[in-house]
Order: sequence, then C-alpha cells, then structure tokens
Amino acid sequence: MNIREATLDDMIPMQNCNLHNLPENYQMKYYFYHSLTWPQLSYVAEDEKGRIVGYVLAKLEEDPAVEPHGHITSLSVMRTYRRLGVAEKLMTQSQNAMRDVFNCKYVSLHVRKSNRAALQLYRDTLKYSVQDIEKKYYADGEDAYACRKTLREE
Ligand code: ACO
Repeated sequence: MNIREATLDDMIPMQNCNLHNLPENYQMKYYFYHSLTWPQLSYVAEDEKGRIVGYVLAKLEEDPAVEPHGHITSLSVMRTYRRLGVAEKLMTQSQNAMRDVFNCKYVSLHVRKSNRAALQLYRDTLKYSVQDIEKKYYADGEDAYACRKTLREE
C-alpha cells in the first residue's frame, strides 16, 4: 500500500471510489477544483498495481466570515482495504499539510450521526472533538456532527 499526494490524474478514480463508498457525491469539477487549488491537501492510497483504493479530499475553508482552517471534504476506503490503518494515514498526511503548508490552526469535518466507524476513527483514533450537531445537514435529513481537531497551539 502506497500513500501519496493526489494528482489531477487521480480525480476520476477518486470519484469512482467515492461513488462506491458514500452517498455524498460531487461533480468532477469539484474534484479538480480541490486538486488545482490546494494540491498539497488531498491524498490517495494505491495498491501494488497502482489502483486507487482510498482517498482523502481536502480543502481550506473559504468562507471569509470564518477563521481560515482546513476542511476534510470526503474520505473513504474501499471495503476490502479497511481496518488496515489506511484512513488514519490519509488523514494524518492531509492534516500535517494543512498545518505545515497553510499554517492552519485547526481542521473541521462533518460526519453522519449514524456513521459509527467514521466517528470512532475521528473521535477516538484521530482525537477530533464534536463541536456541534447540525440538524438535517444531509440531503436525506440526517443530522451531522460538526467535528474539529486542533493542529497547532497559538
Ligand atoms: N468500526 C469501529 N471502528 C472503526 C471502524 C469500524 N468499522 N473502522 C475504523 N475504525 C476506527 C478504529 O478505531 C480503527 O483502529 P483499529 O482498526 O486499530 O481498531 C481506526 O478507526 C483506524 O481505522 P482505519 O483502518 O484507518 O480506517 P479505514 O481505513 O478502515 O477507513 C473509513 C475508515 C474511512 C470510515 C471506512 O470505513 C470507509 O470508507 N467507510 C465508508 C465511507 C465513510 O464513511 N467515510 C467517512 C465519511 S465522513 C467524511 O467523509 C468527512
């Protein structure tokens, strides 16, 4: 398993992985926007044949009303490659780049209340804390936990 920065060539296999694993899907232009704007923040995991089996798609928050910080747009790992530490490694790479390249103080993300696997990863393994519950955040009406992790102290 190889974890590396994502390139523009990875965007179609990343979208394919996303379509397999999550109901939150995005147009290809949104993937390209991430990769072109913040090429340091998105990572892929590839198997020994170079096939993309996991990704993290990440950005900087763009709302000028909010303190600049990193944001995880989407994370997923193909089923047969789960519980091998792939997601933890992808997240750590992206978080480090947010801190080291963009000087981010913290990183945020949303996760479904019912997504126990992802919640355990974020809260217990990666030490995110739940900041808020955003009611009906998802298109199907499910609530989201808004989570955050400090990347550097003042
Ligand atoms: N049940 C309980 N805890 C889990 C699970 C699970 N199914 N999966 C991961 N964890 C926790 C464990 O503590 C695990 O450590 P351990 O294996 O030593 O017990 C730790 O997280 C690290 O797990 P990884 O192996 O790094 O996680 P993995 O590579 O399997 O990916 C992921 C986890 C991304 C949640 C995967 O299950 C997946 O792709 N799910 C479907 C898509 C998804 O839910 N993505 C997140 C949506 S939120 C967002 O995108 C911002």
